[in-house]
Amino acid sequence: MALAPSGPSDRARTPPDARGGQLLAAHAVSLAFGAGAERRAILRDLSFAVAEREFVCIVGPSGCGKTTLLRMLAGLLPGSAGAVEFDGAPVRAPQPDIAIVFQDYGRALLPWRTVAGNVALALEARRVARRDHAARIAPLLAKLRLAEHAEKFPAQLSGGMQQRVQIARCLAQEPRMLLMDEPFGALDAITRQTLQDEFARLAKEEHRTVLFVTHDLEEAIYLGDRVIALAANPGRIADILEVDLPRPRDQLATRENPRFLQYRHRLFRHLAH
Ligand SMILES: Nc1ncnc2c1ncn2[C@@H]1O[C@H](COP(=O)(O)OP(=O)(O)OP(=O)(O)O)[C@@H](O)[C@H]1O
Ligand SMILES: [Mg+2]
Repeated sequence: MALAPSGPSDRARTPPDARGGQLLAAHAVSLAFGAGAERRAILRDLSFAVAEREFVCIVGPSGCGKTTLLRMLAGLLPGSAGAVEFDGAPVRAPQPDIAIVFQDYGRALLPWRTVAGNVALALEARRVARRDHAARIAPLLAKLRLAEHAEKFPAQLSGGMQQRVQIARCLAQEPRMLLMDEPFGALDAITRQTLQDEFARLAKEEHRTVLFVTHDLEEAIYLGDRVIALAANPGRIADILEVDLPRPRDQLATRENPRFLQYRHRLFRHLAH
């Protein structure tokens, strides 16, 4: 089950828990859809920041605006007020340094391309020379346990494998930040736990900065260094929690840790209505 360890690099020398400076920030971001009497506030006055190498989870009830917020942070959707900043510069359009992992892996992959071909899309977008593709793709596929499936097509893969391909493609982009929208939401419980562990480990080993949206508060606590809880109508920050649980996390021990249960208790009321 284990992912291959990453090779020596500057990243690998940084302790996994060390946080860097602020990478992404939302400053009093608001969004409304519609006009006149039909105008509806979707997100109101959200301010928060994500530090380099931090794993932040956003949790909130269905319809509270999580996907909308992620699209704004990615530069895919302009806000009605406030500002988003990435690495100190305003975000007004999609950034090559931000990769997005969608819940719907089925639609995120090109069905006529193999696993390796789908990962190559990110290299093509970055104009990496074709002769260098194989050397870049092989280690990524190994890391995501897809090495034997490089020549298969998405339809020949399980849901968990397809989602791994999407993650491999995002990593091939070598982004400074990953935005993930309920990436494991459509998977069965066991596959989901496996991918949680694999991805959490990969993110920490490679010192990735991650903003991970989920409606599952246990998943948020399990994965996050911090959890931002949103309340609905309009979407706004209800709570921000520092998760003080040892890593690597463990599906049994972490979830049975009394502190995990306290966090769960604290966040539950935000989702309960
Ligand atoms: N383009 C749009 N025009 C009008 N309303 C929209 C648009 N996009 C989203 N909304 C509304 O914004 C609200 C938030 O939607 P969003 O998809 O961000 O919620 P979510 O928290 O991601 O929900 P889920 O957990 O179900 O994925 C919803 O009420 C939705 O109907
Ligand atoms: Mg959503």
